Amino acid sequence: MPYEVLGTGAQLDGLIHDLQNPLRGIQLYLDMARETMETDATSARALLTTVQERIGNIAAMLDAIHAVGQVSIQTAPSEISISTVLERTLQRTVVPSGFIIQLPDSDVRAKADPVGLALAFSEIAQNAIDHHDRAMGNLKISYETGREIRVSFADDGPGMASHVIQELGRPLLGGHKDGRGCGLARASRIIKGMGGEISAANREPRGLTLTVTLPA
Ligand SMILES: Nc1ncnc2c1ncn2[C@@H]1O[C@H](COP(=O)(O)OP(=O)(O)O)[C@@H](O)[C@H]1O
Ligand SMILES: [Mg+2]
Repeated sequence: MPYEVLGTGAQLDGLIHDLQNPLRGIQLYLDMARETMETDATSARALLTTVQERIGNIAAMLDAIHAVGQVSIQTAPSEISISTVLERTLQRTVVPSGFIIQLPDSDVRAKADPVGLALAFSEIAQNAIDHHDRAMGNLKISYETGREIRVSFADDGPGMASHVIQELGRPLLGGHKDGRGCGLARASRIIKGMGGEISAANREPRGLTLTVTLPA
């Protein structure tokens, strides 16, 4: 697996921490099982079942990291319409009632892989929906053109903690114990493969803007 998916510095620390937690749990449960084995076999067995579950979780987390490393751009970049890719992506997104997605009025064209771009847009739009903390939500998508092309996804959800913004793109960012939390890592890898990047910034008074920057 290409090691750059593991990130650097703080990103790698965060990833190691996420894997250490379930390992510590396993050690603790094994100690407890050893202590109760003679006196209370039923409890010891239950503890071993928990150990087995935790090992399954670690395996799922490693599989998810591995899957991020497997993501690659399939097709050669060609000039495409970003609005067409966005519209197709959003047609396949289940938008809950009370959630509004605003698309840009005009189109912009870029040299990019449409399949990869659709995958990345889908992860970002789905996050705006999934991680929103209110019944009513809004996601406004806009473009900026110049030396680069920027596609911004501005939501009015809870935003991100600053350490999460700094770690953006590392696997297991969601801190899930079951191997989820790799959506943004996949999206980042795809966009980097196109020579672009994904960045995040919190909004005032609330919300998050995720920006996909692509070479013009
Ligand atoms: N639009 C958003 N608003 C608030 N938090 C977000 C948003 N998008 C992503 N996040 C945070 O970043 C984490 C990582 O996202 P992702 O890699 O897609 O994993 P997942 O969605 O499976 O948790 C999420 O768990 C969430 O905490
Ligand atoms: Mg996600």
